Amino acid sequence: MTVTRDGAPAQRPPAGDTPAIAQIAYHDGEFVPLEQALLPVTTQALQYGTGVFEGIRAYAQNDGGLAVFRTQDHYRRLLRSSRTLRIDPGHSVEELCDLTAELLRRIGTHEDTYIRPLAYKRALLPGQKPGVGLTGVSDALSVNAFRMSSYTDPAGIRCTISSWRRPSSDALPVRAKVTGGYVNNALAVDEARAAGCDDAILLNSRGQVAEASTSNVFAVVGGRLVTPPVTADLLEGITRDTAVTLAADLLDTPTDFRDLGRDELAGADEVFLTGTGTEIVPVTELAGRPVADGVPGPLTTALMGAYKSVVRGEEPRYGHWLHPVTA
Ligand SMILES: Cc1ncc(COP(=O)(O)O)c(C=O)c1O
Repeated sequence: MTVTRDGAPAQRPPAGDTPAIAQIAYHDGEFVPLEQALLPVTTQALQYGTGVFEGIRAYAQNDGGLAVFRTQDHYRRLLRSSRTLRIDPGHSVEELCDLTAELLRRIGTHEDTYIRPLAYKRALLPGQKPGVGLTGVSDALSVNAFRMSSYTDPAGIRCTISSWRRPSSDALPVRAKVTGGYVNNALAVDEARAAGCDDAILLNSRGQVAEASTSNVFAVVGGRLVTPPVTADLLEGITRDTAVTLAADLLDTPTDFRDLGRDELAGADEVFLTGTGTEIVPVTELAGRPVADGVPGPLTTALMGAYKSVVRGEEPRYGHWLHPVTA
């Protein structure tokens, strides 16, 4: 979606990357030049945060093609999130996967790409009174994409423990990827950056680890892999599931889904984050102290390697996670 007057993209790639913005978007049911994918300032989702979105990556494959990673899982989550806000994106999961592949074909890229679908509340229907709400408002869908390679430091990142708590699920539907909810994440990142760190880990209202700003959190504690359960008020990440699966299948390491306290995290042997954007990245400093020896641990390093092979199409066993764009 583009909402700025000068046509600049509303979401920017992380600093340090130099992506070119692809010049085509899917907007209002058609493929249009990106500069035509514009919305009026009266858009309800802009006023009230009533949109849902996804972040999906397409990876250049070692055979020269391009494939979208776990695209069905992302669109299943988009439709679940949409239902929470009474948004009808107007497409099935299969249609969304296909139109995304078509968008990438039209863009003509074979490079690593980030895809941003956004389903949102658009305009009051005729006769409706102005005001915040989920009914009496039209729905819309936009999908745009831009080139984006890996942007996290494989040598490790520095995280704060945020003073902002992750809202509980009785305050916000935290398991849905709702645009308005990201004000919490933005404040946490802003605080972390002001402290000279890369990212923030947020505790939930019970004081247990929830997640990082746009990633899930894992720790190695006493030789076991641990991640907070979905009841810890987190977004159930697709990369989290990938990490759990690869750890079990390839590294013979099961994951314990259980509450994780900040003291346990601080004393962990390894900490890492998982997310579509962040991929798998070691946390080597937490709240001003090194995590263990302050270098990426062996399990994190092995998982990062496995993840890279899978997304590049080097592990036929996980071929079903890759949706090819080019024949
Ligand atoms: C708040 C939050 N938690 C976790 C994640 C990780 O989810 P995924 O692995 O599906 O990208 C994301 C990214 O989408 C996120 O925004």
